[in-house]
Amino acid sequence: MKVLVIGSGGREHALVWKLLQSPKVDTLFVAPGNDGMDERAVRVPLNVTQVEELTAWAQAHAIDLTVVGPEAPLALGLVDKFQAVGLKVFGPTKAAAELEGSKTFAKTLMHKHGIPTAAYGTFTEPALAKAYVHELGVPCVVKADGLAAGKGVVICHTLSDALTAIDEMLLGSAFGEAGHRVVIEEFLEGEEVSILAFCDGKTVLPMVSAQDHKRIFDNDQGPNTGGMGAYSPAPAYTVDASLAPFVESEILQKTVKAMAYEGRPFTGVLYAGLMLTASGPKVLEYNARFGDPETQPVLMRMDSDLVDVIEMVVEGSLDKATVRWKDEAAVCVVMASKGYPESSSSGDVIVGIDKAEQTGAVVFHSGTRKRDDGAWVTAGGRVLGVTALGTSIEGAIANAYRAVDEITFPGAQVRRDIGQKALKYENR
Ligand code: AMP
Ligand code: GLY
Repeated sequence: MKVLVIGSGGREHALVWKLLQSPKVDTLFVAPGNDGMDERAVRVPLNVTQVEELTAWAQAHAIDLTVVGPEAPLALGLVDKFQAVGLKVFGPTKAAAELEGSKTFAKTLMHKHGIPTAAYGTFTEPALAKAYVHELGVPCVVKADGLAAGKGVVICHTLSDALTAIDEMLLGSAFGEAGHRVVIEEFLEGEEVSILAFCDGKTVLPMVSAQDHKRIFDNDQGPNTGGMGAYSPAPAYTVDASLAPFVESEILQKTVKAMAYEGRPFTGVLYAGLMLTASGPKVLEYNARFGDPETQPVLMRMDSDLVDVIEMVVEGSLDKATVRWKDEAAVCVVMASKGYPESSSSGDVIVGIDKAEQTGAVVFHSGTRKRDDGAWVTAGGRVLGVTALGTSIEGAIANAYRAVDEITFPGAQVRRDIGQKALKYENR
C-alpha cells in the first residue's frame, strides 16, 4: 500500500519508523518530513497546513492511507476534505478535533457528561475573569482557549500573577486569537500521566501509559515547552491496578460516547492528559492526536503492526483489534536548541548522531537539517529525541543517556532527570 504521513517532527519520525516496519507498506510518503527520517520515506514538498494541496496530491497519487501527526491540519479540516473525496485518513474531523482546539469546548463536554476534571470558568471579560480568580483563590491556572503549542497555560501562585495573566491574554496579544477567551481552573496536585488511545468513534483501545516532562529545566523548573522527554510505562499509573479500568470507563469511553452523542464521533488518537490526584484521576487536557514526545517511547514498545490497528480504526472495526506491547520500558530524552522555548537556534553543527545510534538507541529527528556537506545542523527548538528501551525504566534511562552523551551541539539543552520521577515507584 501507499501510505502518507503528514508532519515533520519527532512524533512523525517515530510514525515513519514504525510504519516502515509493516510488510503492508510498499511506499511511504511524508509531507513535508525532515532530513533525519529514513531515506525510504519519500518527501513531499507540501506543508501541513496546505490542506487543499495535500488532498489533491493524495488523490493524484492514489494514496491508500494517510496518517496525520500534528493538530493544525486537523483543526483546518484535513480529515473532512480527504473523506469527502473518498480517501482513507487516520485522525478526527474538524468538529471532533475541537476537543483539543477549544479548551472551552472540552471543559463544557466534560462538565455535561460527568467526566472528572478541575473546576473551571470560561471568560472573555477581564472583570468577570478576575472576580472568578478572587473566588477560586490561588494557586490557580489561567489558560488560553485556543491552540498555543502547549504553551498557553500559566500556573499562578499569587493573585497578582493571575490578574496579569488575564490581562495579557484578554487585553494584550499574548497567544493572539487563541488567548482572547480564557479558561480559569482550580490547581490540581498529583502526578501527571498521558494516556493515548486508538478510537474508531465507538471503541477505545488504550496504548501503554507514558509521562511527559513539560518544563525546560530539571526538577520541573522554568517555562513550559512542547515536552522535554517522556517515558513509558508510567509507574504512577500502573502501580495501582484499579486506575487503568477507571480511566478506561470513566474517562476514555465516556469521552468517546459523549463525542458521538454530540454528533462529533471521534476517530484517531484520543490523548488524555491526566492528573492523578488524591481524589482520583482528572483530565487536564485532551489532545486529538499522538503526543510529542510520548509517541517516541510508546511506539518503541509497540509489537503489533501499526498499519493493522490504523486500518481497523478507519474501518470502524476496532472492537476486533488487539495490540501487543513489549514488557520493556522506553525513555526518550529531548535535546533542544539554544533559546528554546522562547526562541530557537539554527545552524549549530550536531556531532555524534551515528555514535549514539551505535549504542542501540533510536535517534528521532525533530528540528534538524542536513547541510550540503553532509553535516547535521539544528533547525528548530526541539532538535532530537533520543529513545532507548531497557528492562526497567532505570535501565532505559541509562541506555538513553548513554546515547545522548555521544551527541553534542553548541547551546544544547538537555534535562538530566528524564524518568527519575518513575524510580520512586519502581524501587519500592
Ligand atoms: P495543558 O496544556 O492544559 O495540558 O496544560 C499544560 C500543563 O500545565 C499541564 O501539563 C500541567 O502540568 C499544567 N496544568 C494544566 N492544568 C492544570 C491544573 N488544573 N492544575 C495543575 N496543573 C495544571
Ligand atoms: N507532549 C504533549 C503534547 O504532545 O501535547
